Amino acid sequence: GSKGEGGEEYLFKIVIIRDFAVGKSNLLSRYARNEFNMHSKATIGVEFQTQCLEIDSKEVKAQIWDTAGQERFRAVTFAYYRGVVGTLIVYNISRRTTFDSVGRWLDELKTHCDKTVAMMLVGNKCDLENIRAVNIDEGKSLAEAEGLFFMETSVLDSTNVKTAFEMDAFIEI
Ligand code: GTP
Ligand code: MG
Repeated sequence: GSKGEGGEEYLFKIVIIRDFAVGKSNLLSRYARNEFNMHSKATIGVEFQTQCLEIDSKEVKAQIWDTAGQERFRAVTFAYYRGVVGTLIVYNISRRTTFDSVGRWLDELKTHCDKTVAMMLVGNKCDLENIRAVNIDEGKSLAEAEGLFFMETSVLDSTNVKTAFEMDAFIEI
């Protein structure tokens, strides 16, 4: 992030990608407003929200971009990667295909983003343990191999949502 006029304020941009219905919009609404929607609609294009947070006792202003997972709704392809300092790459632990496609999103990120961008791999919906399709160790290994931070979250029961967004690495850049 960059220092604001006052010296204490940082502004930075986070983008949440990528497969559809993995819980990106709910992740943001849970974090920003403590809201969860069982029947949320698919995101069209991109939506963003500015959120003040405190990391390491520093005031941080984060602009968080929530992108459309469905290919046909991706109106502003790639433009949202401009100036980004952090990304959350989200998959759904109960849907294998969403984990299998992580590599593709990583390639896309590496093509369009600065090498210094902090990347967090997020396995969401960890409340769905009974229908889990991706082992936590698989998530960890992939993250380790690709140099990503890693976390499993549940927007439903609020597990790790705050931690995922308030990762120190996002402002160390
Ligand atoms: P697109 O905008 O189409 O890319 O989808 P999205 O990734 O924004 O997913 P969204 O937040 O709309 O959530 C999709 C569905 O998953 C909704 O029915 C949510 O209620 C549900 N959901 C999101 N997070 C969780 C979670 O942690 N646990 C469970 N059980 N359901 C979740
Ligand atoms: Mg959405």
